[in-house]
Amino acid sequence: MLVENSFADRVFFCNSGAEANEAAIKLARRYMNINSGTTKNTVISMDNSFHGRTMATLSATGQKKVKTGYNPLLEGFKFVPYNDLTGLEQAMDETICAVLLEPIQGEGGVVCPDPDYLKGVRNICDEHNCLLIFDEVQVGMGRTGKLFAYEHHGVQPDIMTLAKALGNGLPIGAMLSVEELAQAFGPGSHATTFGGTPLVTAVSLAVLRSLIEDGWIEHCRKVGIYFKDALNKLKQKYNFIKEVRGMGLILGMEIDRPCAPIVEACMEKGFLINCAHENVLRFLPPLIVTKDEIDMLINAIDEVFTDMTIT
Ligand SMILES: Cc1ncc(COP(=O)(O)O)c(C=O)c1O
Repeated sequence: MLVENSFADRVFFCNSGAEANEAAIKLARRYMNINSGTTKNTVISMDNSFHGRTMATLSATGQKKVKTGYNPLLEGFKFVPYNDLTGLEQAMDETICAVLLEPIQGEGGVVCPDPDYLKGVRNICDEHNCLLIFDEVQVGMGRTGKLFAYEHHGVQPDIMTLAKALGNGLPIGAMLSVEELAQAFGPGSHATTFGGTPLVTAVSLAVLRSLIEDGWIEHCRKVGIYFKDALNKLKQKYNFIKEVRGMGLILGMEIDRPCAPIVEACMEKGFLINCAHENVLRFLPPLIVTKDEIDMLINAIDEVFTDMTIT
């Protein structure tokens, strides 16, 4: 069903987002190793990206704070700024085998791609015979108002990774790829004991069916618009709010100060929100969130913000 509804021909199942990205990096390297020589093995990743906490995915992550203390990290990763096609073009050389990026940077502070950025990245990858990997661990499975975030941009990756909402709470990850690449993983070249077991894949299939057939993706889109409008209304009220960004049910509010105290105050009122990149309040509600629940959250944030401006 993942194949029927995506660019991909094949799926490798594993147990987490990090494992899915680990598999993606290995597949890209192995494919290029077989087809273009052993020196074409470097992965370009983005500043402020997050791809997981295994050694390879940590090495591919562009955030110092999660990498500190784990040296030596793996070789063969290079970083460029997000939304910077010139920087990417300049970083390209014959050693680059893949570009790995999130179609919206989640942990990096809900950073959205500029309108033609992903198309530009696709073109650069094609010109330099390198693969494009989208990490949709956080934004895939309906969260942006389409099943996969790449669908908003008219571009397709060669490899995509999924996890989180794919199992609706059960541990499952997936790496999807086109057939030509999948051939590079022959029997025994990559595997994991619990990958694709009947229980988790049955749950995942039910989740995917429900997302597609019960209208949850459209729900995410509509409720996301409602949520973003409500956050923008707060922006008009409080001048310390710099920007509201995101789409569907991945939204961020950048403020001009650290947001940890706000997260704490909201928790006291019964709402779990998150602080990404120090000064971005990140909202990733369950995909079934209702407009009434969003109203309750907005009222709580409004109260917290009012208290902040009074004290
Ligand atoms: C974009 C992205 N990639 C990978 C991961 C790692 O996923 P997991 O925690 O399932 O290993 C995360 C987790 O937050 C993520 O947001």
